[in-house]
Amino acid sequence: MTEAASLPDLHQAIKGCLACPLGAGRMKFVFGEGHPEARLMFVGEGPGRDEDLQGRPFVGKAGELLDRMIGAIGMKREETYIANVVKCRPPDNRTPTPDEARACLGYLHRQIELIRPAVIVTLGATPLRELVGVPEGITKVRGQWRHVRIGDREIPVMPTFHPAYVLRQYTQEVRRAVWEDLRAAKEWIDRPAGS
Ligand code: URA
Repeated sequence: MTEAASLPDLHQAIKGCLACPLGAGRMKFVFGEGHPEARLMFVGEGPGRDEDLQGRPFVGKAGELLDRMIGAIGMKREETYIANVVKCRPPDNRTPTPDEARACLGYLHRQIELIRPAVIVTLGATPLRELVGVPEGITKVRGQWRHVRIGDREIPVMPTFHPAYVLRQYTQEVRRAVWEDLRAAKEWIDRPAGS
C-alpha cells in the first residue's frame, strides 16, 4: 500500500485508513498538500479542528502564521509541501500517542520518498521525536541541524518551534528564532550545487 508510485496514488490508497483509533473519529483525512517536488517540506504534528473540517493541513490560525513565516523567507506556501505526523485529528488536539504516530509513519515516509525534499523543517517536538527520533525538548534542539534517513537518502532536518507555540509566546525572541531557523533552511536549499 505504501509502495504507491505517486502522491495521488498514495492519497487514494490511504484516505480510508483505520489503522489506528484516530481514523474512526475524523471528519476528513488530511493527507498534506503542496508542490509535489518541493525542495522545502514542513512536517507538523497532526490536524486540528479547522484542518479536520477542511481536509487540508495548517489552515487555521497556526496555518496563517506558517504562511507568514514562509513569506518572511521569500517563498510561497505552494512552493513547499506541508504534511503532518498523523493524518487524522487527535481528540481535543492532544498529542498523538506513539502508537498512533507509528501507525501513520509509513505514509509520511512514502510521501517524503516521493517528494524528495532537500530539507525538512519539523514544527514542534512531535515530528522531531516521531520522524527524526530526537527525544529532547524543542527549546534545546531548535536551530540545530539533524538528519533523517528515508529510503536511500539522508535528509537534513531543521527543527523549529510549532506555529501554535509561537502564537502563544508571541515575543520578538521566539519569532526571531523561527525566522533564523527558516532562513537557515532556505540558505541550505539555495546553496550552489556541490558546495
Ligand atoms: N497543527 C499541526 O501540527 N498541523 C496542522 O495541520 C495544523 C495545526
